[in-house]
Amino acid sequence: MTNLKLPGLVDVHTHMRVPGGEHKEDFKSGTAAALAGGITTVLAMPNTSPPLSTPETVQQARQQAQQDIYCDVGLFAGASPQQIDLLPQLAPHTIGLKIYLNDTFGPLRVEDLPTLQACFQTWPQNKPIAMHAEGPNVAIGIGLAASYKRPVHFCHISRRDEIELIAATKQSGLPVTCEVAPHHLFLTEEFHRQMGPWGYMRPQLVTQVDVDALWAHISTTIDCIATDHAPHTPAEKESDNPPGVAGLETSLPLMLSAVKAGCLTLDRLIELMSTNPRRIFNLPDPPDTFIEVDDQTRYTITNDRLHTKCGWTPFAGWEVVGRVQRVVLRGQEVFSNGKVTVQPGSGQLLPAEASP
Ligand code: NCD
Ligand code: ZN
Ligand code: ZN
Repeated sequence: MTNLKLPGLVDVHTHMRVPGGEHKEDFKSGTAAALAGGITTVLAMPNTSPPLSTPETVQQARQQAQQDIYCDVGLFAGASPQQIDLLPQLAPHTIGLKIYLNDTFGPLRVEDLPTLQACFQTWPQNKPIAMHAEGPNVAIGIGLAASYKRPVHFCHISRRDEIELIAATKQSGLPVTCEVAPHHLFLTEEFHRQMGPWGYMRPQLVTQVDVDALWAHISTTIDCIATDHAPHTPAEKESDNPPGVAGLETSLPLMLSAVKAGCLTLDRLIELMSTNPRRIFNLPDPPDTFIEVDDQTRYTITNDRLHTKCGWTPFAGWEVVGRVQRVVLRGQEVFSNGKVTVQPGSGQLLPAEASP
């Protein structure tokens, strides 16, 4: 039963784990999970092993992607203080630059002003800069946007003070944008307390006051819903407890269920999950591309139906609407009845050729 036809969705924040983390996810399993969630374009983060901060690693990841992807994929270049002079070589093969100002999974981190200045001076003006910035580091990002008069995109904003600072910054006319992850809209620190390592991610889950503030800005300040799909195996979560949870297959059902509950309009959902991400990251809008979704039948999210290699979601047991039934990309059916229906490599790499 199909009730709803939507444009192909875009997720600007995923961890595809290639190279080096293929036991957690690879381009096949990750892009299959994307299609299962109605997402036809994903942007992949550079905190791989080694990170996407050298031309060699970027080429390696692009070659693997070209062979494996079922949907469209763009890579972020990663800012690394030791390799900062390589940024101009990475730019033509990536869709944007990612700067990590806070501690999280992997070694990429920028904490010194000279590296930040080098990023803003040498990264091409027409390519976006995205930041993992928490707390006062959001203010550092805003300062850089103001000093260099260029857009900055803030990843996974999670706290009231942060979203209010971004709202004020937007009102002042500075070109900042932000994304929010579903887990920060639907879970609080209570979940982390109950679930231990399974509820641990960066930024960490916080209070109901923070969650309420995010919802209060859902139709104004927030530009995108991005999953921060960060798969780690169950064994890893239970032993060394890396931060991160999967998100690709649960984002649309959670957000559509929120539409049903009156928390936002369907038009706003389309802006947050398709129109705005394409505009902010200069992504092409593939012709004849749409998804068919059952927005009537309630179902329970379970781990056993997932396409992500990690095989678990913090939303198992949740009752939602919004199962994706069919995905058409550039006129071709690529997903139907719970299965990918094309060969690996049929997705498009972004940019396809070197782009300045
Ligand atoms: C991410 C990961 O596992 O790569 N983890 C997370 O908790 N979000 C890293 C990140 O996005 O900060
Ligand atoms: Zn992050
Ligand atoms: Zn992330």
